[in-house]
Amino acid sequence: MASISAEKLYKVFGRRPQRGVDALENGATRADLRKQGLTPAVIDASFDVTDGEIFVVMGLSGSGKSTLIRMVNGLLEPTSGSVSIDGDDVTRLGGEKLRAVRRDKVSMVFQHFALLPHRTVGENAAYALVISGVNRSEREQRASRALEMVGLGGWGGSMPGELSGGMRQRVGLARALASGTDIMLMDEAFSALDPLIRRDMQDQLIELQQELGKTILFITHDLNEAMRLGDRIAMMRDGRIEQIGTAEEILNDPVNNYVAEFVQDVDRTRVLTAANIMEPPVAVLGAEQGPQTAHKLMREHQTSVLPVLRRDRTLAGLVHEHDVAGAVRDSSEMRVQPADQVGTVPQDAHLVDLFASATEHPLLVVLDERDRVVGVIPRVTLLAALHTGPSEGGGPGATSETTTTGDLQPTGGAA
Ligand SMILES: Nc1ncnc2c1ncn2[C@@H]1O[C@H](COP(=O)(O)OP(=O)(O)O)[C@@H](O)[C@H]1O
Ligand SMILES: [Mg+2]
Repeated sequence: MASISAEKLYKVFGRRPQRGVDALENGATRADLRKQGLTPAVIDASFDVTDGEIFVVMGLSGSGKSTLIRMVNGLLEPTSGSVSIDGDDVTRLGGEKLRAVRRDKVSMVFQHFALLPHRTVGENAAYALVISGVNRSEREQRASRALEMVGLGGWGGSMPGELSGGMRQRVGLARALASGTDIMLMDEAFSALDPLIRRDMQDQLIELQQELGKTILFITHDLNEAMRLGDRIAMMRDGRIEQIGTAEEILNDPVNNYVAEFVQDVDRTRVLTAANIMEPPVAVLGAEQGPQTAHKLMREHQTSVLPVLRRDRTLAGLVHEHDVAGAVRDSSEMRVQPADQVGTVPQDAHLVDLFASATEHPLLVVLDERDRVVGVIPRVTLLAALHTGPSEGGGPGATSETTTTGDLQPTGGAA
């Protein structure tokens, strides 16, 4: 269990900063404070990062992200408010205790990772462990495992000068991993990398996260990066957190015009997933059920196609209206389109990856990780999902109609 909790955090730079906090609480603006020579970098920020979550703080340059993460890390003392790590209020801890929390629980990865030039890559990766007094053989072992995890297996004996920029940044990540802390704080850790390498690192971080279950506070000024990585995202502007939510919540339900305008150009097809836009099937047929039941369900629910589900909710196939009608008329076997000829998609697939399938199949069937049917996506819904959103759908606050997440109701069993 590793968690971070920030409550009503303020950081005001300048002389007698508490005056600034008081003024802000009484409605003063940033401009008012500047006139007094004060810079409010973080204003009334509250959030919780839960165990095993990637929580992204996203904001333009100067919005207060680094100041925020440095207060979490204990590098900066808040002017007001508190930060707890696993329930310990780090803003009240001093000296040795604070150092112990930072050493044992938190590691940090920066944008420009400074490697010690005369030490090997392995020694660099193990560096945090030298400081915490881990013996040499364990250091080497943990560093080489960490290097392996970030794709630098075999590079431990090389010198930093032999590495590219992307590889050096990986060493920074390896150092954080080798330290074995449950919490990783990452301040623009990928921002200096070329787009392709950056994407690679993002994928790797997601993979590592799934494997290791770290609690990650990740800072970026790049919205696409935020949407790709964040289980939840805090949108920050001028020192304040404007909104906290999943990528989908922020896209479909921005709290104000600032957030709405910020996200309007996001490529929705790379953010939204099948689960985000799927609908519960209007009706499903049990695998044991025959054409009479299928016919009745189709009439009742005004649908021309029904998924056929086995008892364990996996997909047996689809039945189509003409086959059902034929079977009823001739009292014959009903043709079922077998599951391997149906367009099925995993629920976490991004919309961009559904189009190829949707051109062949008018109805996509959405499966969970155990291949159980959790919803369907008619082709028209997929197309509509590209065009709905706050910028066109009635302004900020309008909830998209395409985000049905209702339970799958088996209606076939009752017939
Ligand atoms: N040590 C400092 N002294 C005075 N002002 C600072 C200091 N650190 C940051 N600031 C100011 O606080 C604001 C937020 O900065 P920062 O947290 O670095 O933003 P970000 O990381 O989002 O770019 C900026 O206006 C910056 O100039
Ligand atoms: Mg910064």
